Amino acid sequence: MRLFPQLVPEFVAEGTSKYGSSGGRVHLLSPEVAHRIAAGEVIERPASAVKELIENSLDAAASRVEVEIEGGGVGLIRIHDDGSGMSADDAERAVARHATSKIFTADDLAHVASLGFRGEALHAIGAVSDLTLTTSELGSRRAVAVRVLAGEIASVEAAAHPPGTTVEVRNLFLNLPVRRGFLGTMRAEANAVAAVVQALALSCPEVGFSLRSEGRRVISLPAAADLRERISQVHGLSLAQSLIALEDTLVWGFVSPLSVSFPTRRYLHVAVNGRVVDTDSFAPAVSKAYADLLPKGRHPATFLRLDLGPGEVDVNVHPAKSAVRLRGGRSAYPLVVGTIRAALAPDSEPGGGDVPDERGSALTLIGQFAGRCIVAQKGDELIILDQHGAHERVLYERLSANPRSEAINLVSPVVARLPEDLSPEVWNFEYELAALGFVFESFGAEAVRILAAPDTATDAVAALIAAVEALAGGEDLAKALACKGSAKFGDSLSREEMRILLEDWSECEFGEVCPHGRPIVKRLALGDLLREFRRS
Ligand SMILES: Nc1ncnc2c1ncn2[C@@H]1O[C@H](COP(=O)(O)OP(=O)(O)OP(=O)(O)O)[C@@H](O)[C@H]1O
Ligand SMILES: [Mg+2]
Repeated sequence: MRLFPQLVPEFVAEGTSKYGSSGGRVHLLSPEVAHRIAAGEVIERPASAVKELIENSLDAAASRVEVEIEGGGVGLIRIHDDGSGMSADDAERAVARHATSKIFTADDLAHVASLGFRGEALHAIGAVSDLTLTTSELGSRRAVAVRVLAGEIASVEAAAHPPGTTVEVRNLFLNLPVRRGFLGTMRAEANAVAAVVQALALSCPEVGFSLRSEGRRVISLPAAADLRERISQVHGLSLAQSLIALEDTLVWGFVSPLSVSFPTRRYLHVAVNGRVVDTDSFAPAVSKAYADLLPKGRHPATFLRLDLGPGEVDVNVHPAKSAVRLRGGRSAYPLVVGTIRAALAPDSEPGGGDVPDERGSALTLIGQFAGRCIVAQKGDELIILDQHGAHERVLYERLSANPRSEAINLVSPVVARLPEDLSPEVWNFEYELAALGFVFESFGAEAVRILAAPDTATDAVAALIAAVEALAGGEDLAKALACKGSAKFGDSLSREEMRILLEDWSECEFGEVCPHGRPIVKRLALGDLLREFRRS
């Protein structure tokens, strides 16, 4: 059940300015244009009606949108806005199928600048409810009320209404008892409505929103100055303040730092050219951006805004406007991953990061502690490094940049016994494994003899198995190999090995965490130490 457009995989949406002109002149689309618009089910549940009606208010440049529901929205949905309103003629036409003020020709479909464009929503809601549209056009003293009952215009009457529009939807799915049966509990439907209001509110901070459910105020959001303020209103000040700004002209918004993460994807919000987009299409890019930075099962908060040129995105892809795609086969994936990574890298967090730059004054080795940690000094700071995690991070960044390693001949070949399910895979991925630096030959049915392994592998057998598992499972190869290749806890390292590791680590882009998202550095400032010793 999708309420927001989903990006067709690998493509990005384009949005539209949600303040495209809609100020009247509702007309019926010609059959040729109407034919080009994918027909299909528009209203699945109360939340989808609320989404459509709020989008209409936003297209009408409303500065405040008030939503009221009863019975989870099945009994009543009332949406009031202070937008452009409609003339009496437009109001009457607006409830017809394919009636819109937002596009005219088939060409207009190529650069839709409003949230709506099909002339479908009011008609679709009116067809399954008792709908009254009351509206007054800006600058006119008159108002009109158009009532549609199960698809038929029941009345058109003069009314009293301030400039703007109120749409009242009673008894949703009155003529579709089966559809009603598919709805969730009243509470579930009310929650879905609240989620829609929140999501749309995040897409336009400058618009005020409120939601009342069963007479109770559930959401109250005065107009906000910017996205961070809106995030703060919706999700709280502490989350909003922790967020890091993204700095790209096409992709902007906010993401959480590594120290702030959540057990669910709840805080993932995406709008493309002002249009709220289903987050499923962006979750892979966000996951990739944080893949080696957060522990498994933890998710960041991400508020992404993609502003692409108008006309770059096709919004007429799915019957319920539930998919959009970037034209010309472009993909948002690398752009989103790259922008988030750049913002998270310690260097790009001016003053915002708690990560001092490692590249300033010299990092000098002190020694090893307990065979597990490397102790070093940098200026007035004592640095304790988890040597296993640091080595893993170094290997990971090296392998991600270039997974091909030099094949090092083993002094004596080793036999790797493969788990049953992996033994065919090793031959399926023979070419890929060779590129990684593995040279091996068949050794019975379920084993291979390894003659050479990548120079990053400390244990050739473990590394080979990890590589085959990652290749077969479509997992991150760099992470698997880094894990198997890294120095084990308890390894005693020579001073030279420690020095090299320390230097390699200091050049890592994300030196604070291992590729599994665990912290790997502890810092102790001389000042703090002296305070503890009661000396200043
Ligand atoms: N709240 C509103 N304020 C002003 N005009 C409105 C409002 N709601 C609807 N309209 C007018 O009614 C027309 C029909 O609305 P409807 O939602 O059915 O179609 P649409 O928004 O054009 O396209 P879509 O079906 O994609 O939403 C709109 O094009 C707009 O001109
Ligand atoms: Mg609409």
